[in-house]
Amino acid sequence: MQTFDALVVEESEIGLLSGIRRLRVEDLPEGELLIEVAYSSMNYKDALACSANGNVVKTYPFVPGIDLAGVVVESSDGSFRKGDEVVVTGFGLGVSHYGGYSKYARVPAAWAVPLPQGLTLKEAMVLGTAGFTAALSVQALREHGITPDKGPVLVTGATGGVGSTAVAMLAKLGYKVAASTGKADKHDELLALGATQIVSRETLTPDNPPPLNKQLWAGAVDCVGGKSLAYILSSIQYAGAAAVSGLMGGTELPATIFPFILRGVSLIGIDSVFVPMAKRTEVWRLLASELKPDNLDAMHREISLAQVPEQAKLFLAGQSVGRIVVVP
Ligand SMILES: NC(=O)c1ccc[n+]([C@@H]2O[C@H](COP(=O)([O-])OP(=O)(O)OC[C@H]3O[C@@H](n4cnc5c(N)ncnc54)[C@H](OP(=O)(O)O)[C@@H]3O)[C@@H](O)[C@H]2O)c1
Repeated sequence: MQTFDALVVEESEIGLLSGIRRLRVEDLPEGELLIEVAYSSMNYKDALACSANGNVVKTYPFVPGIDLAGVVVESSDGSFRKGDEVVVTGFGLGVSHYGGYSKYARVPAAWAVPLPQGLTLKEAMVLGTAGFTAALSVQALREHGITPDKGPVLVTGATGGVGSTAVAMLAKLGYKVAASTGKADKHDELLALGATQIVSRETLTPDNPPPLNKQLWAGAVDCVGGKSLAYILSSIQYAGAAAVSGLMGGTELPATIFPFILRGVSLIGIDSVFVPMAKRTEVWRLLASELKPDNLDAMHREISLAQVPEQAKLFLAGQSVGRIVVVP
């Protein structure tokens, strides 16, 4: 391999420009593992990395891609050998360290998880960072004691990456899933994914919401935040919890203290980036077994590196649907 393709985002007089460039291994950042990338994926953060106002990447030129699955071709670390299949998500990948939108990537060995038995490299990226985040959220609710018999779990941003994978995982575990979406034409797809009820996005942002609402949901997987999270907290059953990972609806949380002090409701923060390795490995094992959605094929679409910039626009407009696998 003399040179290889990568999607490079560069600064120009008219703003950021993305294009396919030929890179050499010497162009890649330091790391013990050189990986031949089989698949990467697109997440909302990747769209921000390609965008001038994204505030995700500090220095350009840059190769985005916050996750990858591939095969080790060189290792100077005793834990991995040539030929090992690995998954890398989070840490600095695709943010401060060249990412997965490249035929080859070089990363610290401490970032890599051995591909768990039960997942192919492609399936690992159909799940990707979104699926990993959904799994962290679902596990947080389970660890909180929210079992399927406790009542329905609400999932917001349900047609997106985190949302759709969360719907599929919860349905597989036997939960009743209320899927909230702003896309009126995607209700049937969400029901096919395992949702038992559709909640329109507007329902979650009423004018003048009461501090405490009817107790509608045992828990919530929320990647939207903002005003709707405040409403969700007011609608969670006694001793329930909301696992929050995202900010599609804004960064403010205009909530009151009442759900916490009168109903014992918990708000659980979910971060997928710096999850310690023991938990990371365990969650990937679960993603390959009891949390693995049955319908991964129907849940994703493949795109090439050249198609990433157009797809990024859809993400930024809130119009991306399901999981997008990137083939470098
Ligand atoms: N904490 C972490 O470690 C972590 C990890 C991964 C992702 N995230 C965050 O989670 C969020 C989702 O990421 P993703 O990759 O799943 O993105 P995505 O695929 O674009 O999904 C986001 C979904 O949110 C809904 N949405 C879009 N605009 C909205 C708005 N203005 N108000 C309310 N809902 C809106 C849409 O679903 P509907 O049309 O179905 O409503 C959209 O498909 C992002 O904020 C991302 O930064 C955080």
